[in-house]
Amino acid sequence: MRQAGRYMKEYRTLRKRFSFLEMCKNPELATEVTLLPIEKLKVDAAIIFSDILLPLEPMGVGLEFARNEGPIIHHPVHEIKQIDAMRVIDPEEDLPFLMKAIRNVRQELEEKIPLIGFSGAPFTLASYIIEGGHSKNYLLTKGLMYQNRLAWDRLMEKISEVLIRHLNAQIRSGVQAVQLFDSWVGCLSPSDYEKYVLPYSKRVIDGVDHSVPLIHFATSSSTLLERMKQAGGDVIGVDWRADLGEAWSRLRYDVAIQGNLDPVVLLGPIEIMENEVRRILDSAAGRPGHIFNLGHGILPNTPVDHVAALVNMVHEYSSK
Ligand code: CP3
Repeated sequence: MRQAGRYMKEYRTLRKRFSFLEMCKNPELATEVTLLPIEKLKVDAAIIFSDILLPLEPMGVGLEFARNEGPIIHHPVHEIKQIDAMRVIDPEEDLPFLMKAIRNVRQELEEKIPLIGFSGAPFTLASYIIEGGHSKNYLLTKGLMYQNRLAWDRLMEKISEVLIRHLNAQIRSGVQAVQLFDSWVGCLSPSDYEKYVLPYSKRVIDGVDHSVPLIHFATSSSTLLERMKQAGGDVIGVDWRADLGEAWSRLRYDVAIQGNLDPVVLLGPIEIMENEVRRILDSAAGRPGHIFNLGHGILPNTPVDHVAALVNMVHEYSSK
């Protein structure tokens, strides 16, 4: 959930000298940034410093992170011939810096701290490729889905193949868990999810080496939880809009659950944070298989000492 990022002073200092993409593509910097929260915050796991959009560059659609505008895809894709022109990447060849960073981090990290690799899920990546960036209503994405099923399926097939390769390459390089981020899939109805997305998320999850656990995360997904479970994953990640206890009960407790503090709560006051942590841990009721996490990405203006306090609280309350 952007564990290493702009809320940390050390990160902002590095960002004055390097762009975000330069940092991702430099294994030494990516290693350093990945390890920052481990040293400063005492979190239980590290997540590799990278981005879900990195595979899009070697796929040939052009990627840029513009200041204050978020990601930009320079050649958005709408037609079959553009889809066919996109490359199915070889992650070891095309993203060697990421694999190198994973190997470096693995060497530097204590044995007991696992490293998480990740990718976007097919729908979320498709939305960036089609819209050319972030979107409010996903008009073009849903437009393609409804108006050109052939093109939609062709695109989702291609993305799925890339993601299977991408996640397996990270596992070969040494990550000990992987997370699939379906950040924007909550814009779909359950029936559209089932029809247009679930088969591809399932294909990716089935195609990933099962020697490491997979966390399947989405936001605004309260209406999709059972179907996300059907697509697969050892852990289902939920955002703060869901009640964690209710979500887990709907999932019948035979998958683990991750979540789900509202990142805004980290801004304070501390007492509210404390109440929320207790509430979430109480709703998990001490069952094994709850990974405490934020419900979505940490906000850049979050005070670092609040994050450290959160980690302490979770350790303290959950050991009781
Ligand atoms: O969690 C971690 O520490 C690992 C790093 C990580 C980043 N992005 C670094 C990042 C992870 C897991 C991601 C995933 C990611 N990237 C997602 C899925 C998670 C989610 O939040 O839903 C998505 C949708 C993206 C795409 C993306 N990357 C966006 C929309 C943005 C811009 C956001 C903004 O506020 O400008 C990014 C940039 C990005 N990815 C940053 C970081 C640390 C900020 C880059 C900077 O320094 O300017």
